[in-house]
Amino acid sequence: MPLIAWNDSLSVGVTTIDAQHRKLVDTLNQLHDAMLSGQARQLTGSILERLLQYTREHFSAEEAMMAAAGYPGLAEHRLRHVDLTRQVEGYVTRFQHGEITLNLHLMHFLRDWLTRHIQSEDRAYAPAMRARGLR
Ligand SMILES: [Fe+2]
Ligand SMILES: [Fe+2]
Repeated sequence: MPLIAWNDSLSVGVTTIDAQHRKLVDTLNQLHDAMLSGQARQLTGSILERLLQYTREHFSAEEAMMAAAGYPGLAEHRLRHVDLTRQVEGYVTRFQHGEITLNLHLMHFLRDWLTRHIQSEDRAYAPAMRARGLR
């Protein structure tokens, strides 16, 4: 069982964004698999770092699209991204310092961290993007 099964409730209806969200979902599922199969810290650490890198890339691409769509909620959304990025950075740093291990509690936090943001804040900009013909 993957941690997150992709489904329509995760789609914002903008192809570019959905593809990026799927990549984040895939990465979280890889992290979950690695945890369940007891992979070494080195491997789980590198997946966690990749998650952070994809997150940064996605947030900046998403912000550029919101700007192109003239979405009025951009400034607020950007602040939310800063906050969400800091949360993952905090976990990555603590993991690297050996202060935490990968466990189900962390996996569930990351699942909710991603899905709740997609289903609330991300969904909110989709009509503005579609109205501008952004796909
Ligand atoms: Fe977002
Ligand atoms: Fe997003």
